[in-house]
Amino acid sequence: MAGPATEPIVNALRQVVDAGIGQDIVSLHWVHDLAMHEGSLHITIRLPQAELATRERMARLETEIRQALRGVTDIEKLDLKFEAPAPAAKPAAGPAGIPGVRHTIAIGSGKGGVGKTTVAVNLAIALAEMGALTGLLDADVYGPNVPRMLGLTETPRVIDRQIEPLTGYGVKAISMGLLNPGDRPVIWRGPMLHSAVQQFLRQVAWGELDYLLIDLPPGTGDISLSLAQSVPLSGAVVVTTPSEVALEDGRKALNMFRHLQIPILGLVENMASFTCPHCHEPVDIFSHGGGERIAADFEVPYLGSLPLDARVRAGGDCGQPPACLGAGDALARPFYDLAERIRSATRQTTPHPAEVMTIRA
Ligand SMILES: Nc1ncnc2c1ncn2[C@@H]1O[C@H](COP(=O)(O)OP(=O)(O)O)[C@@H](O)[C@H]1O
Ligand SMILES: [Mg+2]
Repeated sequence: MAGPATEPIVNALRQVVDAGIGQDIVSLHWVHDLAMHEGSLHITIRLPQAELATRERMARLETEIRQALRGVTDIEKLDLKFEAPAPAAKPAAGPAGIPGVRHTIAIGSGKGGVGKTTVAVNLAIALAEMGALTGLLDADVYGPNVPRMLGLTETPRVIDRQIEPLTGYGVKAISMGLLNPGDRPVIWRGPMLHSAVQQFLRQVAWGELDYLLIDLPPGTGDISLSLAQSVPLSGAVVVTTPSEVALEDGRKALNMFRHLQIPILGLVENMASFTCPHCHEPVDIFSHGGGERIAADFEVPYLGSLPLDARVRAGGDCGQPPACLGAGDALARPFYDLAERIRSATRQTTPHPAEVMTIRA
């Protein structure tokens, strides 16, 4: 480090003690590149760990080094440099998964009334029929329709501070509609929604599940953000109708999931084809082909189309959704095809830690 010419400098630096470690910087082997050049002294202080390179430490050391060198003649200028290794990249801090739950899948759309709940309920029944342990979390706190569609009316029990989900058609389900039945509205601000979602995720006795489907409310607001922050989602399914108005909002939902770094499992086009029960001619009530088009635009899988059929609506209204008719039924078949696609899509994904965002109430 030092030749005879720099010896007095090194001796002076021995007086500089790092207050945190209690040893002088020469004994610590922190002094490097010591060189005198035309009255100018160059020193590099090499700190061995990134954590040591705090502003306070470096400022204190600089003051003490200058002080220690004051008695050493011939130094006109001090060129002092600090070096430290780059801090190690922190592992991505994603939210913790729900113990026992393999895949958590959000069903969303930009718009209300396009069939998210219908898709979520029928998909859940189809997955359960196919042998998967399936749960359905109704995250539409303001408009919870899952209980009606699954035909659930009981009040869930609370055992050991855990809410017991109800079961319909083999699907475990929880919904604000079960905890606050009737026509009394929930009138809450964002933070309350956040804690309801937290409770549904963490304080429900879900047990072992292959799939926990989450029926999202319409739009791109608080609940979706809250979810992305709270649980690693395996993916999202976006539901739209082929109408321009629904597609416009569907694009926003796709962008939201992208922004939240949630893998998009694909896009489902609901209410796509309608066959007139009188003349048996196809009628494009909500237009056609739009879902496939935006799936291609966004380069996400197109998961297929579901027909507009009064029996789908009627089955939902009376708690007997088409999927409960089984895979062999023509009306139920598209929901089983969808379930099959979701199963193969999730085989390729691992639960994904989502970007953590700040929610403003
Ligand atoms: N493919 C379909 N054919 C007929 N009616 C449907 C279909 N999909 C949904 N519906 C009906 O449309 C209405 C809105 O559907 P819903 O699933 O509640 O939408 P969202 O959850 O997106 O608001 C419900 O009455 C539902 O039964
Ligand atoms: Mg809904």
